[in-house]
Amino acid sequence: MTPGELKALVRTIPDFPKPGILFRDITTLIGHGQGFAAAVGLMADKAREAGAEAIAGIEARGFIFGAAVAARLGLPFVPVRKPGKLPVPVLAMDYALEYGTDTLEVDPGAIHDDKAVVLIDDLIATGGTALAAVQLLRSAGGTVTRALFAIDLPDLGGAERLRTAGVPADALMAFE
Ligand code: PRP
Ligand code: ADE
Repeated sequence: MTPGELKALVRTIPDFPKPGILFRDITTLIGHGQGFAAAVGLMADKAREAGAEAIAGIEARGFIFGAAVAARLGLPFVPVRKPGKLPVPVLAMDYALEYGTDTLEVDPGAIHDDKAVVLIDDLIATGGTALAAVQLLRSAGGTVTRALFAIDLPDLGGAERLRTAGVPADALMAFE
């Protein structure tokens, strides 16, 4: 599957969830067996190259790609969760979204011994979500060696913000 074929599997919905937002929807990508497998395979190759010892995924869409990559590489999966879901005292971080605000939480015991963690999400826009996840994973004792996304929206500057924060960021495709 070529990069162009993969990109063509992403559906674009205007004005969701708010007027003016062009929503890049992965439902159609993951609904295509060969396309989903290709995306997971490409991310797994990049995570392996980055020396991943654990994979972290951001709820909810980051779980789809992150868990699949972790299982493919036989690595632990660390869920970065939306608030109130983890049954233990958590590390928490508020952040701003392209269309609102939210909080992420991590189990402080999820990472041991300065592990090399590769962070995975479906999409990076402003980078607020990924930066909050990086800070939480660092607080939990991990070293975030790379961040991987299916989709980058480069006009919103998130991948650049991540690189400035010391995390090399990489995506399978970009929507300008
Ligand atoms: C989306 C997407 C990323 C984030 C990117 O998640 O899955 O996590 O926004 O935006 P940012 O780079 O501007 O922070 P959303 O919060 O919509 O949650 P979902 O995965 O539960 O749909
Ligand atoms: N998350 C943040 N911005 C988004 C967009 N434009 N499309 C899909 N998910 C998003």
